[in-house]
Amino acid sequence: MNPTSASAQTFRAIDVIRKKRDGGELSRDEIDYLVNSYTRGDIPDYQVSAWLMAVVLRGMTRAETASLTDAMLHSGEVLNLSSLAARKVDKHSTGGVGDKTSLVLAPLAAAAGVAVPMISGRGLGHTGGTLDKLEAIPGFNVNLPVAQFRRVLEACGCAMIGQTAEIAPADRKLYALRDVTGTVESPYLICASIMSKKLAEGIDALVLDVKTGSGAFMKGEKDAAFLAELMVETGERMGKKVVALITDMDQPLGRMIGNALEVVEVVEVLRGEGPEDLRQLCIELAGWMLHLGGVADEVEDGKTQSEKLIASGKGLDRFRQMVELQGGDPRVVDDAKKLPQARHTTIVSSPKNGYLASLQCEQVGTACVILGGGRERKEDSVDPAVGIVLHKKVGDAVSVGETLATIHYNAETRAARAQQLLEASYQIADLPVREKRPLIHRVIGKSGEKN
Ligand code: URA
Repeated sequence: MNPTSASAQTFRAIDVIRKKRDGGELSRDEIDYLVNSYTRGDIPDYQVSAWLMAVVLRGMTRAETASLTDAMLHSGEVLNLSSLAARKVDKHSTGGVGDKTSLVLAPLAAAAGVAVPMISGRGLGHTGGTLDKLEAIPGFNVNLPVAQFRRVLEACGCAMIGQTAEIAPADRKLYALRDVTGTVESPYLICASIMSKKLAEGIDALVLDVKTGSGAFMKGEKDAAFLAELMVETGERMGKKVVALITDMDQPLGRMIGNALEVVEVVEVLRGEGPEDLRQLCIELAGWMLHLGGVADEVEDGKTQSEKLIASGKGLDRFRQMVELQGGDPRVVDDAKKLPQARHTTIVSSPKNGYLASLQCEQVGTACVILGGGRERKEDSVDPAVGIVLHKKVGDAVSVGETLATIHYNAETRAARAQQLLEASYQIADLPVREKRPLIHRVIGKSGEKN
């Protein structure tokens, strides 16, 4: 952790909050003070919540963003993985609905010879979190101490954990607070959150999946590109190869939303099945990971290798191995019934004939949170079994009474609220959808070939 400088000891949280509230630029010492004191438990949640809201409303300069990222990065240990011969590459998404690509990508890239030390987050706002999905696998431990994290990484080439008391502890606390205080949607806070934990992993390269659309934190493509540039610049400043793909999140990715359901879809993709959009995005991101990881000369070559690893079953074998090494029940791979199952289901059906014109993605994510798949308060636990299965995606023809989605639930009152929200998120048009949004909007970063 950063030492608190002599001058920093004289700071008061209230002054730092007021300064940001009034649009001032915080010094490195002020930011160090706030981050370190909060991580130690010396500043209460309510003061940091006020400061976070001031940042959301006032923004940050590049210097402040760099100071915040550094303070969060050095709030814990920075791993040194130089003893591993393979290049260390990770990927991180800015968050979406039904976005389970990390669970596919870590074992797939590892099977190709890249090391993937992945530190992920929990559900945030309306979006799902990798850790909550992994914990849907009975026994899976996302809280490995660093030494064990290394052992898993050495044994199977990938390991997936959360921020710990040792690695990026500041992000662990701030992330949980932002989740429930309406302070997620700031490019500066997202950049510091993602880059602090990624840079603490001891990686050589990073592939960022920056979402845009109705289910993303940065809804417009311009805002998504701004966030992407901020993160790429931060990573490059630290000597890492970073590329950011701006990808679509205007409807959920794949068909399953909810922690255990998403694990089912991960296994499908690793079997060479699963929905086309999810498969395509996984292959694209894997292609970049293999390219930056030095095992593929070109991204296209990385994509071909990834497809072969899926076809041969090697990606799925690696997933099974990782699950077992992290204490999870590997039988979930062959028998989805070993995953938590909701007690009840109900359906959302189409009110008319036509074509699915849009699906308000944030509302779908919120419906899953309401079912219990995410948190409404910091101390809430998630229900791994609940979620939503989409039977129609944007552009599909629908007829009146046809099932649009199945809701998996455990509590009646929650299901009724979720159903209402879900029904309101569908827009059915009379005519076919003319223009479909691209899955990959653009690529940003010096390490990218297509910018
Ligand atoms: N993912 C993170 O890790 N942090 C954020 O702030 C948003 C998405």
